[in-house]
Amino acid sequence: MEHARTAQASAPVSAGQVVVVEHPLVQHKLTLLRRVETSTNSFRRLLSELSALLAYEVLRDVPMHDVIIDTPLERMNARLIDGKKVCLVSILRAGAGILDGFLSVVPGARVGHIGLYRDPKTLVAVEYYFKMPPAMNERDVIVLDPMLATGNSAVAAVERLKEIGPRSIKFVCLLTAPEGIRTFHQHHPDVPIYTAAIDRQLNDHGYILPGLGDAGDRIFCTK
Ligand code: URA
Repeated sequence: MEHARTAQASAPVSAGQVVVVEHPLVQHKLTLLRRVETSTNSFRRLLSELSALLAYEVLRDVPMHDVIIDTPLERMNARLIDGKKVCLVSILRAGAGILDGFLSVVPGARVGHIGLYRDPKTLVAVEYYFKMPPAMNERDVIVLDPMLATGNSAVAAVERLKEIGPRSIKFVCLLTAPEGIRTFHQHHPDVPIYTAAIDRQLNDHGYILPGLGDAGDRIFCTK
């Protein structure tokens, strides 16, 4: 398993890589997010800000096209990203918490949803919803889930996406652990992972330690 730090991320990210976005702004906001006393309101705001910062790194190699534009002074050749070719895929429900931050950076992106829940006994991912935009073979998919823990949901989501053959796939989370990275890359060595941190380990219930708790519960205040 190869880990790239952001300092090297301007080089193309290759298969099997984990890009840890170590920018001070990302790390600062992640620390605030982790704290148990962070309110729901702040948690949502921080999550959205952090996601936009991660998006900046994840989209570093997004395809661009040339356009001719007029400035107030003269005509010039300029470049635009192909935002509509980006498909953000949110893994329900916690993925919804980072979708807004990504959309604030690429407002033209298409959006898909995958509904998966973890069987509490087996920790295996069970699919209950799958809805993607058309023409996925022309799109670069960015899968969003704040927590890559056991890796089971992420593996299942990417397996399902591969069935419809997008142009490329990246996986984005806020936090992960060595167990999740190992499982994910055993199944999908071709899909790079972007994260703000690799934590120590999982506990017996599949939660990341030290982590930030249950991301879904903290976003939606369901506990
Ligand atoms: N899902 C969460 O929300 N938190 C974890 O720590 C692991 C999985």
